Amino acid sequence: MASTYRVFKDLPIDFHADGKEKKEGIFSLSPELLKKLNHPRWAPVWETSQELAFKPVAPFKHTDRGYFGDPSFDSLFKGTGATKTTITPKLGVEIHGLQLSKLTDRQKDDLALLVEQKGVAIFRDQDFKDLSFEDLKKWGRYYGPLHVHNNSGAPKGEPEFHLVFASRDKNGTNPFLDRHTGFITWHSDVSFESQPAGITALVNVQTGGGGDTQFVDAIEAYERLSPTLQHFLDGLQAVHTSREQIQGGKAEGGIERKPIVDTIHPVVRWHPVLKKKGLFVNGNPQLRLGGFTRRILGLKDEESDALLTFLLNHINSLLDAHIRAIWDDKTVAVWDNRRVIHTATSDLAPDSIRTAFRITPVAERPVANEKEFNDWTPEKELDLIKHTNEYLKLTPAEYYEKFYKPKGL
Ligand code: SIN
Repeated sequence: MASTYRVFKDLPIDFHADGKEKKEGIFSLSPELLKKLNHPRWAPVWETSQELAFKPVAPFKHTDRGYFGDPSFDSLFKGTGATKTTITPKLGVEIHGLQLSKLTDRQKDDLALLVEQKGVAIFRDQDFKDLSFEDLKKWGRYYGPLHVHNNSGAPKGEPEFHLVFASRDKNGTNPFLDRHTGFITWHSDVSFESQPAGITALVNVQTGGGGDTQFVDAIEAYERLSPTLQHFLDGLQAVHTSREQIQGGKAEGGIERKPIVDTIHPVVRWHPVLKKKGLFVNGNPQLRLGGFTRRILGLKDEESDALLTFLLNHINSLLDAHIRAIWDDKTVAVWDNRRVIHTATSDLAPDSIRTAFRITPVAERPVANEKEFNDWTPEKELDLIKHTNEYLKLTPAEYYEKFYKPKGL
């Protein structure tokens, strides 16, 4: 069978068009790769019928389930036989003896608060990958409407699952590293959306070793800065974009489910349940790829580049506010995308497959402080969306006049 072959984002994924030289249809992994999957139900496909089929989620008032959590976490740990082990004093907890698929609503609320407080909860011996798509979506929707990814692979007809797929040949080669020194791409999931991800679950389906997910504490990253720099950052906004992700995917044979979005977010984000501030910028300081934050508004280009590079390097170096989730094929990591940023790791074992699916409920509009949180309405958001392109074109002087100049000057 003749086949089209394209390298997708420098990862060894084959787009197959069933032997026909065409760009329409359902693109899947090559038969050779499909044969290596332990759970073909979770094989990614890219359906061209979904091109521009999904619009960004319309603004909605999010009610975080963490508000309803009990800080004793009794519903999770008292008399349930479950155990939790702290990974570091501030970040991460590993849980044994609880089945995520069987949690009651009371337990789901406690889980939300626990994940917010600890950033990441790693659950072992889970049955998530064997559940029906419907049950998994129902579980995710408890925390918010499910995000549909711009261009990632998904199970056929199930675009609300974001599939992560990577494979290695017998030498363990990652072609990306032919041209780059590393693959670290810190991000907060889909931060280009006006209401990005909150509580999020990544479910491992298959692993041959390596490929840990690494997390950095965004609140700690902010709190480590001097009060003077914190104060300056508190007033700043940045643009987050899905542009490169969509264009990169399209250029290499993928699909585009949604139009490109550019969104203005605060550089420092206030967490409505924890009532704390965290850094809300993401990307790779060397490559400026991966991650979604591109420019700090109101600054000249060189100023924005220097400040963003400093912040991204700062995040990159926080190995003392960092944990890794080590995967096996029954592990689920649940994290709070407002509290942590994360990156995949490229060190997969030779001749291995790594597949995982992400359930991505979206949450509140990122805000700089409590007042902005209380004042926010869907109508104001629609107005901001309408004017975003105009605001992005302002010169630093125009931006200062409109957004930054103290009142009365
Ligand atoms: C993600 O970015 O949500 C996936 C991270 C990973 O593959 O480790």
